[in-house]
Amino acid sequence: MKPIYLDHAATSPLHPKALEAMMPYFSEHFGNPSSIHRFGRTTRHALDEARSSLAQSIGANPDELIFTSGGTEADNMAITGYVLKNKKKGNHIITTAIEHHAVLHTCKALEEQGFEVTYLPVDEKGIVSLAELKRHVRQETILVSIMYGNNEVGTIQPIEEIGAYLKEYDIAFHTDAVQAYGTIPLDVEQLSATFLSVSAHKINGPKGVGFLYAKKGYDLKPQFYGGEQERKRRAGTENVASIVGFAEAAKLAVAEIQEKQQRYLEFRERMITVFREEELEFSVNGHEVDVLPHVFNVSFKGVNVESLLVNLDLAGIAVSSGSACTAGSIEPSHVLTAMFNDSEKAKSAVRFSFGYGNTIEDIEKAAKETVQIVKRITSF
Ligand SMILES: Cc1ncc(COP(=O)(O)O)c(C=O)c1O
Repeated sequence: MKPIYLDHAATSPLHPKALEAMMPYFSEHFGNPSSIHRFGRTTRHALDEARSSLAQSIGANPDELIFTSGGTEADNMAITGYVLKNKKKGNHIITTAIEHHAVLHTCKALEEQGFEVTYLPVDEKGIVSLAELKRHVRQETILVSIMYGNNEVGTIQPIEEIGAYLKEYDIAFHTDAVQAYGTIPLDVEQLSATFLSVSAHKINGPKGVGFLYAKKGYDLKPQFYGGEQERKRRAGTENVASIVGFAEAAKLAVAEIQEKQQRYLEFRERMITVFREEELEFSVNGHEVDVLPHVFNVSFKGVNVESLLVNLDLAGIAVSSGSACTAGSIEPSHVLTAMFNDSEKAKSAVRFSFGYGNTIEDIEKAAKETVQIVKRITSF
């Protein structure tokens, strides 16, 4: 039986066209882009092209992009790089309780270095309130980091309103757009973003590459020391093949945004219809409208999520839970815990995430299989 992959928010398959674009950079085009000879010039040209096209996809200038090893490094670079460079201006950072650990753990590490961090709460749909943010902004606030769309429940934050407010007060604004990029059109000017993180492997690009958009005039303390690559902002020979594959995947992802949105919302509706028809007791987590179309998080009443995941895997369906499995015990995720008082709901949540290659038939099959398993494991 053909397995059905519904875990695209964790990572996604490499698009064949991205792979094709990458191949020559593993063989004949191997030059170091910093070399001045023809071998170097060829890869420099490829790097420049990729940078321009990726910058265009978010309305940025090419020199505002810093290539990184992925979303984690981009988040670390924006937060640590900015606050260490600007600590004379203040020592207060604001973020939210539902960020990815690349942001949360970075903030925790900075607390140990004397920075103060406010973790904003969210409502039961996972939304941060602008009013709450305004209440916490103070003289010493130098950076706010709020994700665009959540990786577990898909909820989209009011980024444009937050950006406009922070711009007025001249406070730097970072948004982790790792899950939103390629599914939602993004424009850094419209969002008033100072920093924006993106990762290639969520959009059918290769793993281990991403970028940080850093607005001109906002300097960062480098996290690596070495050569002068990336305008002295990130030392190390560029991962040319992956960057070329990233740019190709991004072109395809951005060109298909409208079509994907429609398709994934249809998948979501189809699953809900099957669950309703089969009279499952379930609740959809996250916002109904302000949601990333590819992320669908559901709690099934009375379900042991570990057992559901194992049974789905045996049936060939790959999904993930909103929980981190540590040493055999499943802890409810920090995102769901921040959203709900009801720990049962947090403990019985499953994330289906859609992407390249999924068909409506796959979705129908996965939904029906889920129904059977849920009924089976809750019947005793
Ligand atoms: C919202 C978000 N931020 C950051 C990351 C980290 O990205 P990467 O895996 O490229 O380091 C992820 C990946 O799961 C993510 O979903």
